[in-house]
Amino acid sequence: MTLTPVITEHWDDPELYTLAGYRRYGGYRALATALKTDPDALISLVKDSGLRGRGGAGFPTGLKWSFVPQNDGKEHYLVVNGDESEPGACKDIPILLANPHSLVEGVVITAYAIRAKRAFIYVRGEVPAAIRRIANAVAEARAAGLVGTNILGSGVDVDIVVHAGAGAYICGEETALLDSLEGFRGQPRLKPPFPAVAGLYASPTVINNVETICNIPYIVDRGVAWFRQFGTEKSPGFKVMAVSGHVNRPGIYEAPLGITMRELLDYAGGMRDGRPVKFWLPGGSSVPMLTAEHLDIPLTYEDMAAAGTMLGTGTPMLFDDTVSVVKAVTRWLEFYKHESCGKCTPCREGTYFITGTLERFEHGHGSDAELQTLTDLCGQIAGRSFCALGDAAATPYPAAMKYFRDEFVAATTTPADEQFDPAASYVFAGATAR
Ligand SMILES: Cc1cc2nc3c(=O)[nH]c(=O)nc-3n(C[C@H](O)[C@H](O)[C@H](O)COP(=O)(O)O)c2cc1C
Ligand code: SF4
Repeated sequence: MTLTPVITEHWDDPELYTLAGYRRYGGYRALATALKTDPDALISLVKDSGLRGRGGAGFPTGLKWSFVPQNDGKEHYLVVNGDESEPGACKDIPILLANPHSLVEGVVITAYAIRAKRAFIYVRGEVPAAIRRIANAVAEARAAGLVGTNILGSGVDVDIVVHAGAGAYICGEETALLDSLEGFRGQPRLKPPFPAVAGLYASPTVINNVETICNIPYIVDRGVAWFRQFGTEKSPGFKVMAVSGHVNRPGIYEAPLGITMRELLDYAGGMRDGRPVKFWLPGGSSVPMLTAEHLDIPLTYEDMAAAGTMLGTGTPMLFDDTVSVVKAVTRWLEFYKHESCGKCTPCREGTYFITGTLERFEHGHGSDAELQTLTDLCGQIAGRSFCALGDAAATPYPAAMKYFRDEFVAATTTPADEQFDPAASYVFAGATAR
């Protein structure tokens, strides 16, 4: 399959991030079209396109918009999730840096469609360059009459607030994000009510990922048939895939959904030194790992689910045979333990116990009994936690055990570093070289 650069098409233009640069390629043409279209027709258009949320869960975007009660006389809000803190996910921040106006245009169109007069873009706080880029783009668009009151003389008002998060992974969870935006400690809310009914300031709110919203101008401008020519019936369109790990050319590859990992790996220049793929994850550390035998499965929501994993953020990480799976899983669990917000017991206590036990394995002190303890602990977290962070934390160990049980058994006697020479692993060699 060939790559399909759309959101990334003109990223080689160093001026694309400016209003003039974006306009060179038809920027804000879709906004003019949208403002002449009935909001309900825009919701139907996005529904018909089959666009699915790019934030991880793949929920149908038009359907989500249609849950907002229309003409209810209440204030509505659009919130864009640009928190991007998942290990391995690196596609929203590059979009914010390279093509921020596609997001601004998408935000205004979406806000108009769901009848919101105010939108918020919540950006991960640790990336000031991205915050500056998007804030500048909003300011430029406002000065040009594309954001604010009476946009392009249409009588439509949409203002945009750019908000910087404070560096917590949990604030990417949509309801924790809302609490954070309201000035509270970012912790997930009980659902229902869902944000579409009672979200920001208890008002109907749509929350969408950065990439999801960036698709909107292109769908409005080019139409449903154009969008559906890419991908599959259940996973239409294209995806900004950030390929990372032990590949020769890590980076952003925008491809039709349905491309295989093997094809993407070819675009990424293959594995370094021609070493074999040991394991890979289709979209962030929260999705179960796969192995080399899965390289030919299409990267779609449905095919990944059938293979026992998820497309997630669509940002594959690949690891070669120099990596200890025990070490990799331990690092991810250390992350989840650190980022657990502490609101519910299974996740708060479970991530603590799993991490401690995994660290013993990493140093060769695990036991056969603890292999089962880890399985039990993961089983007590999955499906019993207050939000999906708990489920994510319970994912890496069972997935790794499915394919690499022998390595965990070996770690009951031999430290991971004695099984896998850290100097041979690019992860560590790279860190030393820099
Ligand atoms: C712990 C956690 C972190 C998340 N982080 C993000 C994130 O950084 N960006 C994002 O768009 N979605 C993130 N999500 C998913 C959001 O809750 C939500 O599903 C998404 O923003 C919806 O947008 P979409 O429908 O456009 O995909 C996270 C979920 C969880 C449980
Ligand atoms: S699952 Fe973890 S992150 Fe989510 S509410 Fe419970 S403690 Fe907080």
